[in-house]
Amino acid sequence: MLPAVAACLRLFPVYRRRWRVFVTVISLALLIIFLISGHLEEHLSWALPIFYSAPSHLSSSPILNVPVPPFLLSPVKACLSPPLLLILVSSAPSHRDRRDAIRQTWGSLSSSTEFASLTLFVLGVPKSPVERAALVHEAVTHRDIIQANFTDSYQNLTLKTLTGLSWALEKCQEAQYLLKTDDDVFVNTPSLSKFLREHNGLMYLGRVHWHVSPDRDPESRHYTSYELYAGDHFPPYCSGTGYVLSQAAARHLLQEAGSGPWPTVEDVYVGILARAAGIAPRHIAKIAGSIIVPHNSCCYRTMFTSHRITPRRMQEAWYMLKEADNHWCPPLTLLYCKLMGQGVENGDVYEPLLENR
Ligand SMILES: *[C@@H]1O[C@H](CO)[C@@H](O)[C@H](O)[C@H]1NC(C)=O
Ligand SMILES: *[C@@H]1O[C@H](CO)[C@@H](O)[C@H](O)[C@H]1NC(C)=O
Repeated sequence: MLPAVAACLRLFPVYRRRWRVFVTVISLALLIIFLISGHLEEHLSWALPIFYSAPSHLSSSPILNVPVPPFLLSPVKACLSPPLLLILVSSAPSHRDRRDAIRQTWGSLSSSTEFASLTLFVLGVPKSPVERAALVHEAVTHRDIIQANFTDSYQNLTLKTLTGLSWALEKCQEAQYLLKTDDDVFVNTPSLSKFLREHNGLMYLGRVHWHVSPDRDPESRHYTSYELYAGDHFPPYCSGTGYVLSQAAARHLLQEAGSGPWPTVEDVYVGILARAAGIAPRHIAKIAGSIIVPHNSCCYRTMFTSHRITPRRMQEAWYMLKEADNHWCPPLTLLYCKLMGQGVENGDVYEPLLENR
C-alpha cells in the first residue's frame, strides 16, 4: 500500500508537496492537542524515575518518626472497614459550609460501596474558643474530623498535611491509597477509585509542577528562606489541590520528614520528601491542579479533580455526575476542559483557605 502511494507521489510532485504540508499540519495539531490536554507531560513524567535514586529502604518499625503534635480528634472507627482510597481534605475551621457540601456530595461514598472511598477532614486548633467548641460538636456529629494540637493557620498548612498523612499511616494502614486535597475541590470519587483499582505499586500521582523557583521575597506568603531550601528550583512536585500517594509511598516520604521548620508550601515540601525518598511524581492529565474547568457535566465526568468549586457548585457538579451516567462525552472533552479552564497563578492556589479569617 505505502510503496504504491510513494510511487504515485513521485509521479506527481505537486501532490508530494501537498502531502508534506498535510503531514506537517496533522503532526503539529496532534502535538498541540497532546500539549494542552496534558498527555505530553504524562509521557514525559514516565521518564522522571531515571533521575531519581532507587526508593530508600523502609524501616521495619511501625512507629513513625514524624514530629506531629498529638491528635485531639481521631475518627478511628471510620477505618474499621478499610477503604481503597482514603481522602484527606485540608480544611479551615470556618469552612463548615464547604465540609457540609463535600459530605453531601463526593464525600458521601463510604468504604462499603463499590467505589470504596472514605473522606476525612484535617484541621488544627481554631484560634477562637467558639470555633473550637463548634468543631468538637461537628466532629461528634459526623465522626470525620482529624485534629492535631497545633494552631490552625496558613503558615501551618504543611503541618496539616503531615498530620493527615501520619494519621493515615498509623490508624488506617489498610487504605491502599491516600488523596490529599482541599475543601474547594470537586473530586470525581467514582472515576478516581476505578482508576486506582486498576493500578498498584509505589505511587505519587497528580498534576506535576516541573520547574518552580523558591519565592525569596520575605514579604510573600510563599517565602522560602535559604535555610529551608537552598536550591534554585524545587524538585518536580504534584499540585496540592489533589495528589495521590500509595500507602507505601507515603511511608517512604514521611520517613524523610525532618523535625521542621518546613517550607510553608505543603505540596512543595511533599515533592522535596519524594525526591529524598526516591519516588518520582507521575503526571496525570485528569487531575486539574490549579486549573478551573468549565462548569459542565462532561468536564466533571472526565476530570478526577476540579478546583475552586463553591459549595453550591459542588452540589450541582455532583448532580450532573449522577444524572449523566450514560450520557456520551466527545473524545476531545479533556482538551476542551483544559483549554477552557483558566490557569490560576501558583500563588493563588491557597487563597480560598484564607477567606473569612
Ligand atoms: C495542646 O497544646 C497546648 C500548648 O500548645 C497545651 O497547653 C495543651 O495541653 C495541649 N493539649 C493536649 C491535649 O495535648
Ligand atoms: C503552628 O502551630 C504551632 C503549634 O501549635 C504553633 O506554635 C505556631 O504558632 C503555629 N504557627 C502559626 C504561624 O500559627
